[in-house]
Amino acid sequence: IREEALNKIASCKDMNELQSLRVLYLGKKGPIQEVMKSMKDLPKEERPAFGQQVNEVKSQLAQVIEDRKAVLEVEEMNKKIESEKIDITLDGQKPTLGNIHPLMLVQQEMEDLFIGLGYEIGEGPEVEQDLYNFERANIPKDHPARDMQDTFYINAEELMRTHTTAVQMRELEAGAKEQKLPIKVICPGKVYRRDDDDATHSHQFMQCEGLVVDKNITLSDLKGTLLFLAKKMFGENRTIRFRPSYFQFTEPSVEVDVSCHVCGGKGCPVCKGTGWIEILGAGMVHPNVLRMAGYDPDELSGFAFGIGIERVAMLKYGITDIRDFYTNDIRFLKTFNRFE
Ligand code: PHE
Repeated sequence: IREEALNKIASCKDMNELQSLRVLYLGKKGPIQEVMKSMKDLPKEERPAFGQQVNEVKSQLAQVIEDRKAVLEVEEMNKKIESEKIDITLDGQKPTLGNIHPLMLVQQEMEDLFIGLGYEIGEGPEVEQDLYNFERANIPKDHPARDMQDTFYINAEELMRTHTTAVQMRELEAGAKEQKLPIKVICPGKVYRRDDDDATHSHQFMQCEGLVVDKNITLSDLKGTLLFLAKKMFGENRTIRFRPSYFQFTEPSVEVDVSCHVCGGKGCPVCKGTGWIEILGAGMVHPNVLRMAGYDPDELSGFAFGIGIERVAMLKYGITDIRDFYTNDIRFLKTFNRFE
């Protein structure tokens, strides 16, 4: 029995097997117990020696099992370490980085330009009061000019702002409180209009408006500023032209074209053969607007302009459907990745 047990213990391969051997040889039903039971058949004087011998075998086996257990434990630990080893020489998986949305790229570019000119950045709520979106912009209730901007109304006093001019009216009011001069601010942000979405219309889009108020601000200041903007956004060779237009909050009002950045002004499909691309609306701040905000239009003047961020992004990047900005197709967005 001893030889057999020693062999089995020595060759056993894991803890489970070892445990069953322990139960087998040292437990109550094992062969050693059997032998012990047979002791009663022996002559009395032989029993002590026999018992001693059996006990020796028992304790020897117990010891050998303990030793084997120690060895197996080390082996199992080593196996575990081996299997959990990380091969640091393998190539890793590069985490995918997100990238900045094309509209944000344009917005940030404009912000950088105007911060460089000493402007501040103004922000206002997207759910706006009728007061700032319309009244203060010289668009009273029931005035037909309200139809130019189909509005999402929340209730009688609140609406989704239809232009960032609303933010300018807030900036103007805040400035007038302390008669601050000059005011130089740009207001980028989302605006909303009740339009049916198609390739060139979106019920939500982005604008960036600029406002300057000081003594002796003239139309030529506006022109110089917009020429600078056009050159920085569309290339140093660009020129601009003013066409008369109409906005309630500016007088005179102009629409501004930039010479086509694709054909350089010769005429191509992008500028529909005209050599010019309309990019923004602008004008001299209407005296009523200054007065309502709390400034004296006899003392000072200002200019304002408003540019559509989608429009600039579409021209700059050659995008033909405004909806591409908002459907968030990752393949489209990835083409603006500057980090790879
Ligand atoms: N608010 C006008 C628009 O949404 C743009 C504009 C801003 C025109 C400032 C003139 C001056 O179309």
